[in-house]
Order: sequence, then structure tokens, then C-alpha cells
Amino acid sequence: MNYFEPLTRFVDLTNGTIPGAHVVQRRYLEDLRGLFADTAAEAALLDENPLLYEVHEAAVIPKEDGHLLFSTTVVRPGTVGEEYFMTKGHYHARADRSELYYCLAGEGLLLMQTPEGRVDAQPMRAGAACYVPPYWGHRSINTGNEDLVFLAVYPADAGYDYGTIAEGGFAQIVVAGAEGPRLVPNPRYLGSGARD
Ligand code: PA5
Ligand code: NI
Repeated sequence: MNYFEPLTRFVDLTNGTIPGAHVVQRRYLEDLRGLFADTAAEAALLDENPLLYEVHEAAVIPKEDGHLLFSTTVVRPGTVGEEYFMTKGHYHARADRSELYYCLAGEGLLLMQTPEGRVDAQPMRAGAACYVPPYWGHRSINTGNEDLVFLAVYPADAGYDYGTIAEGGFAQIVVAGAEGPRLVPNPRYLGSGARD
């Protein structure tokens, strides 16, 4: 038997990074171009092109059935117009693969959506263990004033389908209101059939 070797990574709880991470992905506003509802605000902020989030991939693990991948995500605080900074959001390429998020710091929402456009929002704050069931698209949104940090653990063969969200969007968006964050219908939502 060719055993894969056990390993440990330490998450730096002061900032969500993983020292020794094998890849750090940085996503700037231009990487999410077209995803924010307020196109004028998005265009205005593109000059500055702020960093929206980082993903720290813990280790080189085979992307095969049976293995788990794990990473931290650090979403910066801020808004585009009224809409909070967020991740791109995706379905899993193998849509029946689930995922667990464990929130380490900050405040936010885990927005999920079925392919039919039914939306669910779960609270994210330190200690929250949020389950993303099979078939649900998912996006994290920082509704606080500090970095939103969470650890994600998911089947190594899950893969990413970004196209469905990039083209159809989420049915709802999260905007800043006088009484805090609120979910409102996404005026740009086209649905998961947008690609057909
Ligand atoms: O596996 C996940 O769902 C997360 O690690 C995300 O990939 C991460 O939060 C970044 O979001 P996205 O992949 O939608 O850009
Ligand atoms: Ni995922």
C-alpha cells in the first residue's frame, strides 16, 4: 500500500494565513468584474482595484476521491456601492460534493443557492461550523468591519464550477442598510439556465 503521509498545518489565528501554504490565491475586484449589482460603483472602484479576498491552500493533496482539501479564506471588509465584499461563489464541478466551513474570525454570511434559485443564508462568526450540502452553490460575504476568516474542508475531487454563478448570478445579494446587512433580490440575476 502506498500510504499518503499525515500532515498538520497551523492557521495563524491573528490573520487567517497558513504559514507554509503551498498556494495563496488573491482575488481583486477585476477578478469579480460583473458580479456586483451596482455596475457604476463597480466601474468607479476598478481604478483602485482593491484586494477582496485571499485563499491559502494548506497543502499538496491529491485531487482524488477519498482525500480532503482544506484552505483558509480571508475576505476583506468593504463594499461596492452598498454591496459587501464577497467571494466569486461557485457550485462544485462534481455537484454532489459537500463542504464544511469553520469560521475563525469576523462576521459575515454564507449565502447558498440551489440551481433553481432557492437561497439560504447562514451566519458566519468565530465558532460557526457551516455545512454546505451537495448541490448548493456557495459564496461568503463579509458584513463586518474586520477580515472574515474561515477554514474550508471539502472532498478533493469536488472541483469548481464558477461559470454558472459568473453568468447567472445569485438570486439575492447582501447590501448594507441602516439596520445592518439585508438580503435583497439581485436585479442582475439570470438563473442557472443563463449559460444555455
Ligand atoms: O472551497 C471553497 O468553497 C472555498 O475555499 C472557496 O473556494 C473560497 O472561499 C473562495 O471562494 P471562490 O472559490 O468562490 O472564489
Ligand atoms: Ni466550495
